[in-house]
Amino acid sequence: MKIIECANYDEASAACADIFAEQLKKKPDSILGLATGSTPVGTYRLLAEKCARGEISFKRVKTFNLDEYYGIGPGHDQSYAYFMRDNLFDHVDIEPANTNIPDGLAKDVGAECRRYDELQNATCDGLDIQLLGIGPNGHIGFNEPDDVFTAGTHLVELEASTIDANARFFASRDEVPKSALTVGMRTIMNAKKVVIVASGEGKAAAVRAMLDGPVTPRVPASILQLHPDVVVIADSAALGKL
Ligand code: PGA
Repeated sequence: MKIIECANYDEASAACADIFAEQLKKKPDSILGLATGSTPVGTYRLLAEKCARGEISFKRVKTFNLDEYYGIGPGHDQSYAYFMRDNLFDHVDIEPANTNIPDGLAKDVGAECRRYDELQNATCDGLDIQLLGIGPNGHIGFNEPDDVFTAGTHLVELEASTIDANARFFASRDEVPKSALTVGMRTIMNAKKVVIVASGEGKAAAVRAMLDGPVTPRVPASILQLHPDVVVIADSAALGKL
């Protein structure tokens, strides 16, 4: 894994935005795997600025997001569908029909998971580039620590620590959904390139376990040790336990 050490969050965001901008220049019809959470906000802002300046275009881009809370719809202001519109899609020239996020209101969860995987398979033979954050518990997407790695899109019960970490976005902890739909490791490991961004000392233990620990579903991000093209963009705080 290639590690890019940055002084702080802003530098990490700039490094990540540059990689995605280069990808779009090289392949304007790229298929992007996108993430939500606090980490990619700076990256998306910089990509929107590059788009406004005419340096890049999303006109021919297709996107697949990693995950969505289960039980809330795209109009909910904490849904990841809303987050993506608010932080990226409404600020770039992307066709909304080319953006894909699991349906958090799907009645038939199994059918929705199959639909999402089949749509990705029909669209591409592996996403061109996958953006990831990392949870303090080492999760990627919403693949929580578990006894096994799960290959396909699936419903997960969120760990108490994930609900705690995300409660800051909701009026109260009780309002945080307890489950989510997430792509599995097949989507992530089939991506041609993976960029994972980590900022702050709260991620330091997870970053160390990802890079230096055994490959284990107890640290979902550790599976990235097996991927041939991973760029880890981390600030000094997130690398502080190496
Ligand atoms: P964060 O979440 O970007 O809000 O820290 C990352 C993650 O949980 O994957």
